[in-house]
Amino acid sequence: MKKILFAASEAVPFIKTGGLADVTGSLPKYFDRKKYDVRIILPKYLCMDERFMGQLHFKCHFYVNLSWRKQYAGIFEAKQDGITYYFVDNEFYFAGDKPYNELYQDIEKFAYFSKAVLEALPFLDFCPDIIHCHDWQTGLIPVFLKTLYGDENYYRGIRIVFSIHNLKFQGRWSLPAVMDITGLPEQIFTADKLESYGEANYLKGGIVYADAVTTVSETYAREITTEQGGEGLDGLLRARKNDLYGILNGLDYEEYDPQKDGYIYNHFNEQNFQEGKKLNKARLQKELGLPVKENTMLIGIVSRMTSQKGFDLVAYIMDELLATEDVQLAVLGTGEEQYQDMFRYFTQKYPDKIQASIGYSEERAHRIYASCDAFLMPSLFEPCGLSQLMSLRYGTVPIVRETGGLKDTVEAYNEYEHTGTGFSFANYNAHEMLGTIRYAISVFRDRKKDWNGLIQRGMKQDFSWNRSAGKYEALYEKLTDFE
Ligand code: ADP
Ligand code: GLC
Repeated sequence: MKKILFAASEAVPFIKTGGLADVTGSLPKYFDRKKYDVRIILPKYLCMDERFMGQLHFKCHFYVNLSWRKQYAGIFEAKQDGITYYFVDNEFYFAGDKPYNELYQDIEKFAYFSKAVLEALPFLDFCPDIIHCHDWQTGLIPVFLKTLYGDENYYRGIRIVFSIHNLKFQGRWSLPAVMDITGLPEQIFTADKLESYGEANYLKGGIVYADAVTTVSETYAREITTEQGGEGLDGLLRARKNDLYGILNGLDYEEYDPQKDGYIYNHFNEQNFQEGKKLNKARLQKELGLPVKENTMLIGIVSRMTSQKGFDLVAYIMDELLATEDVQLAVLGTGEEQYQDMFRYFTQKYPDKIQASIGYSEERAHRIYASCDAFLMPSLFEPCGLSQLMSLRYGTVPIVRETGGLKDTVEAYNEYEHTGTGFSFANYNAHEMLGTIRYAISVFRDRKKDWNGLIQRGMKQDFSWNRSAGKYEALYEKLTDFE
């Protein structure tokens, strides 16, 4: 039995701000459980949902040396769907009303978390063959492991897989501050290790010290080795090309299932989706205060509101779209003020055409995936994207820009061959997007048979973890094959 420990800053069902949590919280369930014991370690945030706090059991405590600081660490444990979750407790670091705070706080918080994960291992009686780290928050785990623990017997032989879910966020902070926080030796703060553009860079550390690096789609794996998509780390990623794997994210098909989803109004499947989706759409329109119109295309958006998601394009053409087309939008998201305000503004201006909820709601999100005709995701870049996979699963036709995982998962409609699962456009250009939305509206309105074909093919796609968990298993095998 191979032992794998996932280290991450979020995982469903305990704490989630985006797709990272969906991945870390669902992938462990889909490994071959006869061969792999996969556990997860997370921070025990005080903002975690009350209903979960009660499920956590105290296991042990110890102290973590972080340079001149000596900090308490408690370990709590919980079981969820047969998977063991560990939580690192420290109320100084993990207070606050959300998991991430100001960067300067997060820099110290996740240095502490990374050190605490390594210190916890002997207390857990779970010495992993592999620690599978996710994103910059865990970038220092391989750095600490290989510089401070390398010679200690207990830690010898532990391999690191480092997964990049978003290269944009790197955890960069001033060199002297990070030296002070981490107590790491000065000689590793060099351009070939932790230093990057004059700062210390946690993500870079993760990439440099990991045994293998993965990211969440094949296209994104290619994009990040180019200057355009490399966020300043393309040179390093090219250098590590032989150890860089693009493994497409899967979706938890148990959690996202139109036949048994507890959040949606009416269940449906590939056969009865026409009736099922019609009922859902009418209920959602009613719930949102939009006119209940069966023949008006309802487009959904569920997203973090950041520039990554292409909202500059949306802002640019919104007036034109809403003033000229018979269309409705159901929007859900939180994030940057400028985008929230933009959606609020258009909701006020065209209340019969767009209703935007600024906030976070699992229930509303599932209802949008299930009830809309189309789903808009015109991302500037997208490592994988799960929202388009959820849309496909619920028979909602994605309209996407051809980047990263969106390119790998949505096949463009071909009106001559009657193929495809969605609509896509290539350039980051607002009118190219508008043209694509208009094209989708025309197919929805005038070619019902083709539209239903799109839905059906989309629902038939398999983006479950069954496709990808095996690729991680193969990588784990490769890294632990010492013969
Ligand atoms: P990212 O991780 O970049 O935000 P993904 O498409 O991979 O993008 O995953 C986003 C996840 O977060 C999906 O599960 C989506 O439904 C969810 N999500 C995003 N915003 C909200 C929101 N406001 N309310 C509920 N769920 C949301
Ligand atoms: C990141 C990416 C998103 C990806 C998710 C899970 O948040 O922005 O594209 O799907 O991580 O890997």
